[in-house]
Amino acid sequence: MDQRPHTVPASGRSSEQVQGHWLLARLGKKVLRPGGIALTRRMLDQADIRGCDVVELAPGLGRTAQEILDRGPAGYVGVDRDPDAAAGVQDVVGARGTVEVADASATGLPDASADVVVGEAMLTMQGDKAKHAIVAEAARVLRPGGRYAIHELGLTPEAIGDEVKTQVRQALARSIKVNARPQTTREWKTVLQEHGLVVEWVETAPMALLQSRRLVSDEGLVGALRFGKNLLVQADARRRVLDMRQVFQQHRKSLIAVALIARKST
Ligand SMILES: C[S@@+](CC[C@H](N)C(=O)[O-])C[C@H]1O[C@@H](n2cnc3c(N)ncnc32)[C@H](O)[C@@H]1O
Repeated sequence: MDQRPHTVPASGRSSEQVQGHWLLARLGKKVLRPGGIALTRRMLDQADIRGCDVVELAPGLGRTAQEILDRGPAGYVGVDRDPDAAAGVQDVVGARGTVEVADASATGLPDASADVVVGEAMLTMQGDKAKHAIVAEAARVLRPGGRYAIHELGLTPEAIGDEVKTQVRQALARSIKVNARPQTTREWKTVLQEHGLVVEWVETAPMALLQSRRLVSDEGLVGALRFGKNLLVQADARRRVLDMRQVFQQHRKSLIAVALIARKST
């Protein structure tokens, strides 16, 4: 087997232009979802995946794939539209699963072939039509009684005004270079319910992706120090990351991480 490390996705783009998640990945960050690895673990524990057929949409760098495999699923299939990401996740998964290059809205997987579908930090980056197409696809591949677990960027409070919502979305788009569309918890629930899924569990966490304590909790002390060292020596990347951190900080009262699990009816 070819053991060379795979290219970090989007490696052709400059530090000024690359999407925020790939910039962080380039600097050595592996956990790219808003609630950190702790919220991921609580969500996976709640989804009860031991012995289940699991599909992960948009596994990115494969950090959650590892967590899923540690919980003893019957099978693992990852689906990422980025070929470099998919190849990297296949390395993480090895013979314990397969990773397809496809859009999450058209996975090509059979109907009712999964007990659990997991997707993190990927619906937020889609427009409304694509969000619905992906949730419909997750519902299609789930068996009756199966669970769809998502972990995304949320907005708070529920009564947040349209003006603040727009300000937050514009600031995120400018800074992370992704048209991120976070939603309130009620709005996330509604997207799932519109596809016949019944929300059974919701948990939120602070959006603390770039705060030191979260960096250590997500990446470990050595990983966090490596990230810090890379920032010190890469001035362009440092400017971007500091800008992202400032935007998260400025909108800290509105931004949260939210995880939900919804069940397909039997
Ligand atoms: C922000 S990263 C999230 C990665 C990982 N889930 C995590 O939380 O660390 C976004 C990933 O989603 C993938 N992605 C985004 N939209 C997708 C889609 N519509 N279909 C498949 N993959 C998608 C990207 O290729 C990338 O690997």
